[in-house]
Amino acid sequence: MSRILKYAATLSVLAHTGCGVSNVYSLSSINSAGRPATSDIGNSLSDVLEINTIKDSCAQYWSQLDENDQPNRETDPDELQTNKIRCGKWLFIGWETSGKMPLPRILFDAVERSWPERVGKNFEKLGFLSNPQDPSGLPVGIAKSTTRYTGMPSVNVTCAACHVGQLPDGRFAVGAPNTKLHLSEFNLMSYYPLFAAMHSKDREKLPAKALTYFNELEKTERRRVAGGDRGIDWSNVVFKYSKLLRWLGIGPKGLPDAEFVVMPPDRDLNSWLEGRPGVFNPGAPMLTLQVNDVPNLSIPQLWGITGYETDFNSGKTAPLGQTTKYASLEKFVSSAFIYAYQDLALVRPRHVEPLAAYLRQLKSPRSPENLSVIDVQKGEQTFNAQCRSCHDGSHGESTRLYPSAATLTHPALESPRSNYKATTPIAQLIYELSNQLAAELSPQPTGIRSRRLTGIWARQDLMIDGSVTNLNDLFCINEKRKIETSPHQDLCSDVSAEQKNNLIAYLKTL
Ligand code: HEC
Ligand code: HEC
Repeated sequence: MSRILKYAATLSVLAHTGCGVSNVYSLSSINSAGRPATSDIGNSLSDVLEINTIKDSCAQYWSQLDENDQPNRETDPDELQTNKIRCGKWLFIGWETSGKMPLPRILFDAVERSWPERVGKNFEKLGFLSNPQDPSGLPVGIAKSTTRYTGMPSVNVTCAACHVGQLPDGRFAVGAPNTKLHLSEFNLMSYYPLFAAMHSKDREKLPAKALTYFNELEKTERRRVAGGDRGIDWSNVVFKYSKLLRWLGIGPKGLPDAEFVVMPPDRDLNSWLEGRPGVFNPGAPMLTLQVNDVPNLSIPQLWGITGYETDFNSGKTAPLGQTTKYASLEKFVSSAFIYAYQDLALVRPRHVEPLAAYLRQLKSPRSPENLSVIDVQKGEQTFNAQCRSCHDGSHGESTRLYPSAATLTHPALESPRSNYKATTPIAQLIYELSNQLAAELSPQPTGIRSRRLTGIWARQDLMIDGSVTNLNDLFCINEKRKIETSPHQDLCSDVSAEQKNNLIAYLKTL
């Protein structure tokens, strides 16, 4: 616990400079050469990742700050801002800041090797994007990680795994949800070594669907080995990182003999088994949500975020995040550092501000469609008359929280962390640390809000639970929604066919 107090000072530095630097935020993201600092939408992944442009930016940016993370006086403000934004991009793509536990590289490679028919080369079949520029062959959004928990070379997901995606027109964009990413299956597969080490009597206690799933993995793995491929010593893999597993409250107990092995709680296994590409439980497997029936969440698009605490305090924006709600983008990003490192050491302006500055300047891609100007204008009028009351933010998001009944969204999403109880020491630590960041929202406000509507033309999983496939599905243009229990059904019945057409045209311009 002393750990928490020790870092309290660091936190107040963050809160302090959070206001002090607002003049820096208002500097343009266009540098003096007239070019944006980064290029985030493009025809190829290399164009969008621009690794060569960003790879040294953090070193440069940090060298321009003093020990209190304030800019050195002689630094040119334009250059500082360019470096800051590029550093933010590098952190977003290349740093394991996403808050999952690291995975030993041996395990990561073993999964790729064991189930090629499910995983594909570079994890492509699980929806990871192949990284044309990564020398070690890791896909986009997987980076080398700290060895601090595993004691061996490890990897972890970065923001880019979920938040860099391909648009319906084929382009790639940072901030687009990776709707192909099957994180749930990735999670399940990464627990296979535990299954392999389990006694059969313990296996029988698994939820039936989980047992079927792991049995199938075991069968294909055996077929592969019988076919002459090299086998993997799974129990050796488990033992190698058993310390980490025990911290998480799973894995072999009674080391060194490993009398029995426990899997993640049934609710985690069930939520992964129900997950689908792009839609999953973002809390698992670390700080699992304990309300049993919380639906899985879709990945939001990250365009048009403001997230200033002053706006939140004056009621101009809703909190960021649904599972845990934060008053500002800085606090949201800081929580990611806590989840990833389990202390506040990285919660410093020099890490937090570049990521926040980078995200704030991401713009939504334009729809390539030729839209009728008249339809768009009429759509805007209808939107102002019928939708703006709730979609009142500058990017069509809600500035307030609503009861789930307003749109018949699943009520468990109103407050997914209510009654949270950490079940392991590490979860307790993370929970306490991140609560410091959400202190002004304690207890957490209950309710849901619409996410931003910018770039919504490019989405394939609308609504928080991702249950509406696109704008046509939203308005039931093809008669019935694909998932009939999805929220906001009123948009199918309460709007005329002509209004639907115009609203779609308008929404495509956002
Ligand atoms: C494993 C996939 C995944 C990774 C990795 C990930 N995110 Fe997210 N992100 C999500 C999901 C799912 C949500 C919705 C969660 C919610 O609303 O509670 C989300 C929400 C957000 C939001 C809030 C947007 C809003 O409208 O409320 C921001 C900002 C964000 N992520 C930024 C980041 C950053 C920065 C990183 C890296 C530090 C990151 N994400 C890593 C999946 C991911
Ligand atoms: C009573 C308040 C209210 C009104 C009026 C309203 N909405 Fe919503 N809308 C919401 C809320 C709350 C959500 C979030 C629901 C969810 O994600 O489950 C939402 C979600 C949405 C989404 C999905 C956003 C996303 O992130 O995927 C779209 C699109 C949308 N609304 C369009 C409209 C349109 C078009 C109208 C007018 C015809 C309208 N809404 C009227 C409250 C409202």
